[in-house]
Amino acid sequence: MTNILVIHGPNLNLLGTREPELYGADTLETINQNLSKVAQQKGVTLQTYQSNTEGDIVSCVQQAAEKEVEFIIINPAAYTHTSVAIRDAFLATRIPFIEVHLSNVYAREEFRTHSYLSDLAVGVISGFGKNSYLLAFEAAIIQCKKSAT
Ligand code: DQA
Repeated sequence: MTNILVIHGPNLNLLGTREPELYGADTLETINQNLSKVAQQKGVTLQTYQSNTEGDIVSCVQQAAEKEVEFIIINPAAYTHTSVAIRDAFLATRIPFIEVHLSNVYAREEFRTHSYLSDLAVGVISGFGKNSYLLAFEAAIIQCKKSAT
């Protein structure tokens, strides 16, 4: 069975109250529930994880390789723009992934236009609010099916 992991980075636990004009009014729990519904419909195994700590995200990516996760969707949040360690975890495990952002990072401050992960990602989805995750999930399922054939 297709096994997909969704990782949410720092401050995304505050969705719903955190800058709702930028990130929307939905909580992380609602976003995860919406993904779970799609996972059930599509017969895909979904795990979700959130951490505010860089090292925990590195460990999560490492452990994903041991748990035979096929594909990762990650919103690295602020670590997008800073984390060589998360980049190295993806280089080490070679698990394919999609980078997701709720906001359009290219329409914001200059420092948000640089990502330590984008060039390693299968693709990047940015700017569609909670739908960024749903679009990434659809794309991840398509990618998994492709590599199964
Ligand atoms: C974000 C964009 C990042 O620049 C920011 O640090 C976040 C959220 C997004 O989903 O739009 O925390 O990843």
